Amino acid sequence: MTEKAFVMIKPDGVRRALIGKIVNRFEEKGLSLAWAEMMNVSREIAETHYGHLRDKPFFGDLVDYITSGPVFAMIVEGKGAVKNVRSLIGPTDPAAAPPGTIRGDYGVDVEENVIHGSDSPDNAVREIALFFNRM
Ligand code: TYD
Repeated sequence: MTEKAFVMIKPDGVRRALIGKIVNRFEEKGLSLAWAEMMNVSREIAETHYGHLRDKPFFGDLVDYITSGPVFAMIVEGKGAVKNVRSLIGPTDPAAAPPGTIRGDYGVDVEENVIHGSDSPDNAVREIALFFNRM
């Protein structure tokens, strides 16, 4: 079934000019870009997006990082987009992410792990509404 995932290249990925390489991976897999926007994330949106981590000791640093520069926010569309995006991205900690995954190839540090992808279809809907103000 065609599905939409919210994907965001985080500030380190944008700063390191990885947008083209990362978008290419989704396209090579057979997924397509339905929408994309370079944007600055407000603290309010960052805190809402990462609300499930509010009690973690790294929450403040995470919000500082996500708001430290522009992100490249996307709607990636295709069959099983949410699961396929997550498998291309790899595990949260780049040090544990296998080579061949985006985090495994481009990240070194869990605090700056290059990219975000929705972890469920429900969260994809919520995140698309939050970042793009639409469904
Ligand atoms: P989480 O939602 O658990 O992972 P994912 O991004 O893979 O869905 O965590 C959100 C972000 O929080 C994660 O991408 C990086 C950051 N983070 C840290 O900075 N330190 C940590 O110890 C963890 C677990 C996450």
